[in-house]
Amino acid sequence: MSVAGAWSQAWPPARRASVTIGHNVQSEHWWQGAVIYQIYPRSFADANGDGIGDLPGILSRLDHLRGGPMSLGVDAVWLSPFFKSPLADFGYDVSDYTDVAPEYGSLDDLDALIAACHARGLRVLLDLVANHTSDQHPWFTDARSSRASRHRDWYWWADPGPDGASPNDWTTAFGDPAWLLDEVTNQYFLHSFFAEQPDLNWANPEVPSAMGEVMRFWLNRGVDGFRVDAIDAVGKDPELSDNPRELRRPFPFAPDPAGQYRLWNRDRPVTAQVVRAMRRVADEYEDRLLLGEAYVPAERMGAYAGDGSDDRLHLVFDFELLLSEWDADPFGHAIARGLAYSAPGTAPAWAFSNHDQRRHASRFGLDAAPLAALILLTLRGTSVIYTGEEIGMVDGEPGTGPGHDPLGRDRSRSPLQWDGSPSGGFSSGRPWLPLVDPERANVEDQAHDPGSLLSLYRRLIELRSASAALRRGEQRMLYDLGPGILAWTRSLGGEQLLVVANMARQPTTIDLRAIASGARLLAASVSGREGGALRDLRRIPLAPLEGLVLELTPPHGSVL
Ligand code: NOJ
Repeated sequence: MSVAGAWSQAWPPARRASVTIGHNVQSEHWWQGAVIYQIYPRSFADANGDGIGDLPGILSRLDHLRGGPMSLGVDAVWLSPFFKSPLADFGYDVSDYTDVAPEYGSLDDLDALIAACHARGLRVLLDLVANHTSDQHPWFTDARSSRASRHRDWYWWADPGPDGASPNDWTTAFGDPAWLLDEVTNQYFLHSFFAEQPDLNWANPEVPSAMGEVMRFWLNRGVDGFRVDAIDAVGKDPELSDNPRELRRPFPFAPDPAGQYRLWNRDRPVTAQVVRAMRRVADEYEDRLLLGEAYVPAERMGAYAGDGSDDRLHLVFDFELLLSEWDADPFGHAIARGLAYSAPGTAPAWAFSNHDQRRHASRFGLDAAPLAALILLTLRGTSVIYTGEEIGMVDGEPGTGPGHDPLGRDRSRSPLQWDGSPSGGFSSGRPWLPLVDPERANVEDQAHDPGSLLSLYRRLIELRSASAALRRGEQRMLYDLGPGILAWTRSLGGEQLLVVANMARQPTTIDLRAIASGARLLAASVSGREGGALRDLRRIPLAPLEGLVLELTPPHGSVL
């Protein structure tokens, strides 16, 4: 189906008032409807004063996440890489998959952290960097030592073209040429990200077998699954065909900055075999989750994640919503597409921020952060919070030179601001990245302020845990409540909820008489609104950037 065709299916014409997407979940897995918190370990909490966050630091701060009096109440944490790494890509270049880098602690620290999380009912996901290793990984140092080496075919090698040219025109995810000539063996190797991250050759059966052992190493230690890095990059055309600059058929991806369509080195059908190999390992254990990172359009999400009963991943991130501009139309469109294209009975993993993107409080505006929280935590699917968004952290300055991300992604990686002191309570030493503004936004101040963003996150997560409709119910988009209004219902059994978000920066009113005979306020993104039953359904005022979660009584004789 063309992208245009998908549009018309996912986005009903204006005369239609609503569309129902998704079905009620039959069998419940823990991740369906869950809230996952992404920890960037380097920036979460530093226990030993070296300025770098570590595993004991995370352990010391678990009260923030679950099981303490002021906890957020999230269901799981996903830990970005803490493995040994030369840090060319800040841990996404792994040089030892089965050890903890000393600056983060030890395997014993990880065991203690897993045990402490589990004691609080908090699950633990690790990052599985499967597309590539570090160029310092022993597999690659052996591979590049000679053409006849034991690990040579674990990576992609190709002879230079005429006049020493690259084997083909492929580019990295960052837009640079994807091949680097290895002078020693006079062949090029492939890297879909930085040159320090050579791509593994999953077509060689020894690679899935070795990665399966890596997975078992962590699963045996009790981890509850993995966020699978860059899964859409693992499949490649074995013929190494050049990518086209023109296509006669519709293609779901825009061309890269060099003007080529990544037809042969991204989102390849063979990726399904890689995923199957991972699923086989995960399925040796009970209830483990594989959550994929694939920057693909919604149409392709179903190719990656199924409903758990098949051999696809269990979940995949939706990035269309994360990358949408702050406006009710693109938001509604992205949400509808994410839900419509998920495998039947399933829904995406949603996030607004992560360690690769600018923080959403900076992109959408700090004033939009409370409403963004209400949206994120009331969607059908799995909601993923990125460290610091719960207190409204904004981007820092991107650093330059050694010790900084060459792509400027440092700006969303500054340390979590625990208190208002200059080091933000993050470290007793000099933080590896400067704090942004701990005196403006920090956990300590917000934890005890009922009007804070942190308190709103906590209340919304509590509401989500208590409501079967919010965790598992179907979602039905409503399109005619007025300009600037994003709205949907969530329902399960007799529970009928309405989420309404005024994304505009002007006040407005909505009329709910067509869809309800009564409404009771469960949550609001703006403090000061009176709780309980709404008196006049004809004219409900909404402040700028205000969102509400309402429990509805359907109009007599109607089914929502
Ligand atoms: C996605 C990760 O989130 C990003 O940080 C990294 O640079 C690439 N994958 C390569 O591993």
